[in-house]
Amino acid sequence: MTQGSTGGPAAHVPEETTVGIIGGGPAGLLLSRLLHRSGISSVVLESRDRSYAEQRQRAGMLEQTTVDVLRDCGAGARMDREGLVHDGIELRFDGRSQHIDFPTLAGGRRVTIYAQTEIVKDLISLQLSELSNGAPLLFDAEVHSVSGLTQGGEQATQETGSDSERPVLHYTYEGRRRTLRCDFVVGCDGSHGISRSALPASVARTYEREYPYSWLGILAEAPPSCDELIYAHSPRGFALHSMRSPSVSRLYLQVPNGTDPGEWPDERIWDELDARFALSDDQEWRINRGPITSKAVLPMRSSVTEPMRHGRLFLAGDAAHIVPPTGAKGLNLAVADVAVLARALDRYCTSGDTAALDSYSDDRLRRVWRAEHFSYFMTTTLHTSPDQSPFDTRLQLSQLDRIASSRAAATELAENYAGLALVD
Ligand code: FAD
Ligand code: PHB
Repeated sequence: MTQGSTGGPAAHVPEETTVGIIGGGPAGLLLSRLLHRSGISSVVLESRDRSYAEQRQRAGMLEQTTVDVLRDCGAGARMDREGLVHDGIELRFDGRSQHIDFPTLAGGRRVTIYAQTEIVKDLISLQLSELSNGAPLLFDAEVHSVSGLTQGGEQATQETGSDSERPVLHYTYEGRRRTLRCDFVVGCDGSHGISRSALPASVARTYEREYPYSWLGILAEAPPSCDELIYAHSPRGFALHSMRSPSVSRLYLQVPNGTDPGEWPDERIWDELDARFALSDDQEWRINRGPITSKAVLPMRSSVTEPMRHGRLFLAGDAAHIVPPTGAKGLNLAVADVAVLARALDRYCTSGDTAALDSYSDDRLRRVWRAEHFSYFMTTTLHTSPDQSPFDTRLQLSQLDRIASSRAAATELAENYAGLALVD
């Protein structure tokens, strides 16, 4: 078994595979797992070491579909034991709170709180324990470039089955430059990866938007202050109450871009959270305080690169699209991408049928843009812009009031938040 430099002794470094996967985040690891279940060989090349990959603090909210995909591929056991199932979220604005009930509004769908760090740990341990023949997961293996891609993505259908040219991944591992010849390459290397740049400039198009605020995110050894996620609109800016377990809270505050976390001593964070979550005078509500174990500032961005396929190269997850975290869509989109792609690769490898591979980019982009819109909507409805006028604030409050008072408006939010089905 090859585990890479931090996972144990490296016995064998493969030189070819069916699917070369760049990046061992949730998208790359899950894709490899799904392909393994279909008997399709793959190799995951991850530039960071195992403990870094397992400890990067990120997402926490899983849609029903994400939960189902993890369960179906045998990666759901710990999630089912430790995940916290939620029936909805709370919107807090204008000193009042409104529960949005997902099972009622979104056809019985629920969401689960289970940290991305734990999903990554579960997938890594499954991959390293079950695959003994081959070398599916290499840590400290940085991919520099992809060569041998077909030119002219529009002819990709015909190219898919041809043996003429196979893509090659060029990477460094254990101090040596190496190559991996693949039938297909999937870029799961996140927003700072290299796979996007392998799309020729003549076909690639990126659509982007920066937001004029960031999140200060903390983890605290404090029991969650209530059972639900709370999305708070306040005159002082946005705040989010989330959690990781019955004893750990995950909390976020809107802060200006460029904020240094050092400007936010613990007491200031707790006081600000209390101020932003405050309800009107007659309702006392306080956040549970405890030792803060992690503090970081996260900028917010929307971005989509099209197409998500060029010849034998496919993009999945943050490598193709970024959303601001307010809608909790990033990880869920990444899981949906690879679930759809794994099915398409299985169909091709089983029967030679390229139809699902050919429609991957268009099908996914439709869903990606829906999630982009929802994330933009949640972000701009709940945050306060630096140049916000009282008129803008009134519009936001009117929109929130509409969601609180109209079943149709609440249903639109619930369906998007709890997640749409993988395919129509
Ligand atoms: P990544 O997790 O970025 O993984 C990419 C991997 O590729 C990394 O391990 C990287 O080291 C590796 N890599 C990069 N370049 C190379 C290279 N050249 N060679 C080899 N390897 C390479 N999403 C949700 O759905 N729900 C949420 O509640 C949520 N909350 C969030 C909260 C925060 C604060 C943030 C920042 C994000 C949140 N997200 C959420 C988004 C979610 O975390 C991402 O969308 C998710 O990590 C995407 O997974 P990925 O595998 O595509 O990319
Ligand atoms: C989280 O728990 O980290 C989380 C939850 C919901 C979001 C963003 C982050 O919208």
